[in-house]
Formats: sequence, C-alpha cells, structure tokens
Amino acid sequence: MSIAIYPGSFDPVTFGHLDVIKRSSTMFEEVVVGILSNNAKHPLFTVEERKDMLEKAVSDIPNVSVITFDGLLIDYMKAHDISVIVRGLRAITDFDYELQIAQSNRKVSCDTIDTVFLTTSIEYAYLSSSIVREYASYGTDVTDFVPKHVAQMLKNKFNN
Ligand code: PNS
Repeated sequence: MSIAIYPGSFDPVTFGHLDVIKRSSTMFEEVVVGILSNNAKHPLFTVEERKDMLEKAVSDIPNVSVITFDGLLIDYMKAHDISVIVRGLRAITDFDYELQIAQSNRKVSCDTIDTVFLTTSIEYAYLSSSIVREYASYGTDVTDFVPKHVAQMLKNKFNN
C-alpha cells in the first residue's frame, strides 16, 4: 500500500496546502494529513480547530484523512507503517530547511523513510499561514487565500 503523510502546522490550512494535498492524492493510494499538536510555535488555532478546518476542506477527496500527532514524525510513521513524507516547496528559501529535515529524517529512520517534494503551484508561491494570519488580524478579506469556512474561523478568532 502506498501511503504518504503530509505533515505540518496548518495554522491555518491555506489554498497552497490544499493544492499539495490534492496533487499528492493522485499519486498515492492514501494521503494522511498530519497536524503537529505539540507545536512550539504557539499556534493561533487549537489542534482540534485545525483538524476540524482541514477535515472540512478535504471532505471531497476520498483517499485523504486527517490525524494529529505529537513527538517525532518518524515515530508516528513507523507505528502506522507509512514510509513517505510529502512536503511542498515554494521557493529556494524553503529549500535549506526542508533538505535538512528530509535528510535527518532519512538518517534517523535508518533509510526507511523518504521525503517527496512537490513544487507549489505558481499562484500560491507567495502564500503562507503566517501571511494569512497577519492579514486576517487586521480584518482583511482572506477568501483568496483560504476556504470560506477557514476565513470565517479567522474572523471569529480575531473578532472582526
Ligand atoms: O508547517 P510546518 O510548521 O513547516 O511543519 C513542520 C513539521 C511539523 C513538518 C516539522 O516540524 C515536524 O515534522 N515536526 C515533528 C517533530 C519532528 O519529527 N522533528 C524532527 C524533524 S524537525
């Protein structure tokens, strides 16, 4: 079975993430979206909120599921027999960090885990969760960046 995991913070999920999820869902039998729950970045949304918004956003893709994990990604993967990580690459600025994580995950997993990179579609190359949070905090319409239900959750969060 070819199962891949697409891990991230998803705080919140954006159209850039959804683009990677949709494209990877055509490449693997199953794609598991893994939300890191013990995130040192102090996320805006709770892990339950992020899971809820992601589940709604991928509800029309039958081979995609959403889970939360804490601790090491490779430990979750070993426990669930998953050997491929999917990550999106937006620009060269992502590359150093992603290469470092991919190579260390491969080393620590004794070469049992590989990372597959999808280059982000050009229309989402500038997009990030932090940019969305910043605009939304000032009450700017973010429906070009995130699904409508996520934009509403941002409005509720920032009371705007
Ligand atoms: O969306 P993000 O914040 O760029 O995602 C980063 C993530 C969650 C993929 C990465 O931090 C991760 O895998 N964390 C889990 C802990 C882990 O396995 N660490 C070892 C590699 S950094």
